[in-house]
This record gives sequence, C-alpha cells and structure tokens, in this order.
Amino acid sequence: MMNAIVVRAFGGPEVLSFEAVPERLPGPGEVLVANRAIGVNFIDTYLREGIYKSAPPPFVLGNEGAGEIEAVGEGVGDFAPGDRVVYTSNLGAYAERTVVPAKNVLKLPGAIGFEDAAGSLLKGLTAEYLLHRTFKVGPEHTILIQAAAGGVGLLLTQWAKHLGATVIGTAGSPEKVALVRANGADHVIDYTRENFVERVREFTDGKGVDVVYDGVGKATFPASLDTLRPLGLFVSYGNASGVIEAFDILLLSQKGSLYVTRPTLGVYTNHREILLEQGDNLFGAIESGIVNVAVNARYELKDAADAHRALEGRKTTGATILLP
Ligand SMILES: NC(=O)c1ccc[n+]([C@@H]2O[C@H](COP(=O)([O-])OP(=O)(O)OC[C@H]3O[C@@H](n4cnc5c(N)ncnc54)[C@H](OP(=O)(O)O)[C@@H]3O)[C@@H](O)[C@H]2O)c1
Repeated sequence: MMNAIVVRAFGGPEVLSFEAVPERLPGPGEVLVANRAIGVNFIDTYLREGIYKSAPPPFVLGNEGAGEIEAVGEGVGDFAPGDRVVYTSNLGAYAERTVVPAKNVLKLPGAIGFEDAAGSLLKGLTAEYLLHRTFKVGPEHTILIQAAAGGVGLLLTQWAKHLGATVIGTAGSPEKVALVRANGADHVIDYTRENFVERVREFTDGKGVDVVYDGVGKATFPASLDTLRPLGLFVSYGNASGVIEAFDILLLSQKGSLYVTRPTLGVYTNHREILLEQGDNLFGAIESGIVNVAVNARYELKDAADAHRALEGRKTTGATILLP
C-alpha cells in the first residue's frame, strides 16, 4: 500500500481524500516511478470537478511528476531502475509512486532538480508548443498573454521575450503585475482594475496584437477578440474562470476575419518523437536560463486540497508542487 490523493466523487477541493491505496507493478511498456515532486496544474481542478471527464471516480489525481525509476515492465529498453525522470499526461501522479507508460517519460538532465522538473514539464511543454507550433512567435510579433503571472503565463512571458516578441501581459493584482514586469514583459495590465482592451489598443497604436494566448476562458471572452489585429489569432488554451460558451461564428467575421484555435498538449505529446523534441527544447531553455522555473509554493502531498484552494483562489504565482 502507498499514500495517494483520491477523488472519491466530482466536486470542490474537499473531495480530495488522502488515503492508503493498493499498488501494482509496471506492466508491459510501463515503468514505476517513485515520485520526489509532483506538479499541480489547473487541469487537475477540471478533472476533480468533472469538467474534463477522462476517468470516473474513484481515481488518483495528478498529471505530472518527477522522481526515480524503481522498476520497469516487459519490453522497456530505454529506462532502468535508478534513472532520474519526469513525466506528464498520466492520471495517478498525486501519489508516492506512479505506474506510467514509458512513452510518457523523459530522462532528466543532471542540472535540473526534481522540484523544477515537476514544476515545469507540463506547463513548459505547453509554452513550447504555443510559441513554436500553434503560432511561430518572432521579433516581428506583438502578443498578449492573459494571466501572465501564472504557471504557464510566466514561462510564456520569458520565452516569448527571448524569441524577440513584444509582450503584453495581464495579471490580477499589483504584486502580480510587478512579477510579470520583472520577468521581462514590455507592458503589463492589471485586468481587475483596468480595461485590458483599451490598454492593448493604446500600447499598439490602435493596431491590436498578432496573437492572444488566453487560458482564462469565460471571464476574458469575447473581449480577448477585441485586442487582435485583423486576421489575428485567438488561442484559447484553458478555462481557469470557466468554459467559454458556444458563440456565433459570425463574430469572427465582424471582429476582423479572426482565426481561433483551442489546442491541447496531448495532441503533441502522444507522438513520442514530438515529446522528445519538446523535452529537449524545454530542458535546453531551462539550462541556458531562457526560462527560469518559478516554484513559488510547496505543499505536502496530504495537503493537496489546500494547494487547489490557493490555485483556484488566484493566490498563486508561477508553479505549485506537492512533496510526497
Ligand atoms: N491546452 C493545454 O494544452 C494546456 C496545458 C496546460 C495548461 N493549460 C491551461 O493553462 C491555464 C494556466 O494553467 P496553470 O496551471 O499555469 O494555472 P495558473 O495560470 O497558475 O492559474 C490560473 C490563473 O488564471 C487567472 N484567473 C483569472 N480568472 C480566474 C478565475 N476566475 N479563477 C481562477 N483563476 C483565474 C489567475 O491569475 P490572475 O489572478 O492574474 O488573473 C490564476 O492565477 C489554465 O487554463 C490551464 O487549464 C492548458
């Protein structure tokens, strides 16, 4: 038996139950990882609430962890016991040990510690594909990052600046605004006090931005569309404030022949060769200082509900991790 956080029924943070659960050995193509640090991500709250229904309760929550391989299943040649690894896209990470498909696992470079790995893999791979694959950001672009002080937001901000873009960020308090500015953004808007559409128009001489990266969802829609130039791209990659409701597609025509995409990380990481490439890009960005992983909150595994309350209560910046 081992300790884990189990979702017994869909609901608020109170449904997270710290309990002893049975363990199993890795099957064919799987590895057993002893978790040293576990990433907390907004997707964990959607799965807990049942907004994303990938598994019926009861299930062990968690999509990201870093630690050491304890055992490998039949047919696994790339990993051996003792390897330092990090993994994502797999339920069951809020636990002392997790059985993971080997295809989801990356070897961790020696220079990156378990806490930084667990705080950055899922969020960093997301920033990698958003800036390099959803849209190739470069020096000729001006972009808007909503909730730029968050886990994905801070990584997006730093990486986009390295790519030479002009970066406008939004954040929900004066302290968060200062943090985003310290991470390199050219302009930062406190969107709880200021009209972010008007401010973006001012910063861009009325032209609008090329791309808006929006993980906030309901609260910033459709206003995010009004920050775009004609033919601009709205990247809706999350729903921290709630899911965007169905809308009239004519809106895109009226607001300037806009493009819209609603991407998800799994579509990239399901291909092993893309995951390896993304991992190399992210680890390279961390090792060379292009991005600095901000693990700003640590909780014991048993206190996962408190971590969720802080994340959903907009009390966090950067990454939050759990320690088993
Ligand atoms: N599609 C993908 O592939 C993918 C992958 C990873 C993450 N995501 C998405 O990326 C977004 C960021 O994830 P994260 O884990 O890094 O979280 P996070 O950004 O650290 O936390 C969410 C932030 O959203 C802002 N927010 C605005 N309105 C909110 C509300 N009503 N309730 C809660 N938060 C609100 C808050 O910042 P302020 O206080 O500054 O407003 C909050 O800190 C999430 O939407 C997540 O689902 C998507």
